Amino acid sequence: MSLEQEINKRRTFGIISHPDAGKTTLTEKLLLFGGAIQTAGAVKSNKIKKSATSDFMEIEKQRGISVATSVMAFNYKNTKINILDTPGHKDFAEDTYRTLTAVDSVIMVIDCANGVEDQTKKLMEVCRMRNTPVIVFINKMDREGQDAFDLLDEIESTLSIKVRPLSWPIGIGSTFQGVYNMFEHHLNLFDINKTRIERDIVSISDLSDPKLDEQIGEKAADKLREDIELVEGVYDEFDIEKYKSGELAPVFFGSALNNFGVQELLDTFIEIAPFPKSRETNTKLVHPTDPKFSGFVFKIHANLDPNHRDRIAFLRICSGKFERNKFYQHVRIDKKLKFSNPTSFMAQDKSVIDEAFPGDVIGLYDTGNFKIGDTLTEGEDMEFQGIPSFSPEIFKELINKDPMKTKQLEKGIQQLTDEGVAQLFIQQPGNRKIVGTVGELQFEVIQYRLQHEYGASAEFQPKSFYKACWMTTEDDSKLEDFIRRKAQYIAKDKDDNYVFLAQSAFLLQSAEADYPEITFHTTSEFKRAKENSL
Ligand code: G4P
Repeated sequence: MSLEQEINKRRTFGIISHPDAGKTTLTEKLLLFGGAIQTAGAVKSNKIKKSATSDFMEIEKQRGISVATSVMAFNYKNTKINILDTPGHKDFAEDTYRTLTAVDSVIMVIDCANGVEDQTKKLMEVCRMRNTPVIVFINKMDREGQDAFDLLDEIESTLSIKVRPLSWPIGIGSTFQGVYNMFEHHLNLFDINKTRIERDIVSISDLSDPKLDEQIGEKAADKLREDIELVEGVYDEFDIEKYKSGELAPVFFGSALNNFGVQELLDTFIEIAPFPKSRETNTKLVHPTDPKFSGFVFKIHANLDPNHRDRIAFLRICSGKFERNKFYQHVRIDKKLKFSNPTSFMAQDKSVIDEAFPGDVIGLYDTGNFKIGDTLTEGEDMEFQGIPSFSPEIFKELINKDPMKTKQLEKGIQQLTDEGVAQLFIQQPGNRKIVGTVGELQFEVIQYRLQHEYGASAEFQPKSFYKACWMTTEDDSKLEDFIRRKAQYIAKDKDDNYVFLAQSAFLLQSAEADYPEITFHTTSEFKRAKENSL
């Protein structure tokens, strides 16, 4: 098969949702329909139960499970589908944001009762940064929920994306009878007693057909006719180009738990979702069809065995063909590396692979060479862009409790932050280490791992910072002035960029007002940052 054919058959995507909307259930059902697993219940929820915040074993288990389900690949109708798992727990949101840099599209699951929730909004903002195409799946239609039109309005207004329903629900909760597939003009009838994957499909090409009344009853049929007329009047025709540029989200309704609406979703997904596209580097646009291999690391996972500090780096392939045992250039450290055991993840099995193609994600065993965002190439000196750090929300100072173990602590915190467990900011004087995360759970993880993997003993002292802001300017003297004046709130990130640790939204606003020449960014993704910042 040619490189182009390999690329065209790949669909690499993530499923995102607010916790509990049904992401795990939908993932499992997609694997079932794809024939990748045989029984429901095979995919473990990667949720950390609410009680687990103080139960470290639970976190360890979680880490184990999430390695196994980090990538789930399967073949379906001549398409190679790569699902990249995103942690549901909000404390691991940064992991999710980074994983989204490695996908070509997403499916967003929304609970029909709760509508758009907090986490959905944040994830959508991240999708918007790269214009990632989004398909919406409105789940739990077997339960009482909001009116379908209200849900669509809510999505459009709160997520600022246009929507176009491709299926339409007939009733909801106790009155839910199924959906009308507006794309293929058929009725898909719901039967709660059916647990197997099968469908009752009735073809209705014209909604005035009396067959509709026979199938769902006169009242529901009239309501459906009215609804569809309204849908056709209000929403524009589905435009695949607008979907691909992230402006328009097709919407499906269903119930993942009851296998309902999942196959429509999957079949439409493989039809419309984009295959791997070109990606920006600091020197050029890299096309997947470029014969030379390139890829980037978007996730690093510590191995579970504390006696070995091996890690698995997850690499997304962007161009050419990756081959086992071939030397590749690690651009940041300017070193040639070869990999004898690159791993692929087919559904739940890990296996060593000989080759992989754009869109694929492979696991590389690593002894500490990789950081998140690193680029591997066949020799070219270029680095992929768009693997940002986001401002943490909780900041604490790391205090060394055992001066005899200073070296271990330094190494440990460096490696853990390279893995992306948290972000490290160094403040002067005294090389003070400020650790920033999006959730409390990470501090426990860090403390535990420093102790168990590095033998270092540390404590955290809360810091009342509100955001870490990266800065750019056209006027270096202003930035120098700002850094001098605000010295006690200035730190450096892992790449030696200055950041402003603002104590409150108000103080950030005053800094912006006092220094209009400086732009403050809450993600590290900004153009020409290196050139413009000090
Ligand atoms: P998440 O990964 O997005 O956090 O959600 P998950 O799939 O774990 O689903 C959250 C809960 O919602 C689960 O129930 C799941 O069974 C239920 N659920 C998912 N899809 C549907 C649906 O279509 N209809 C209905 N009625 N429920 C659905 P749970 O009680 O929290 O967990 P479990 O004990 O069933 O595993």
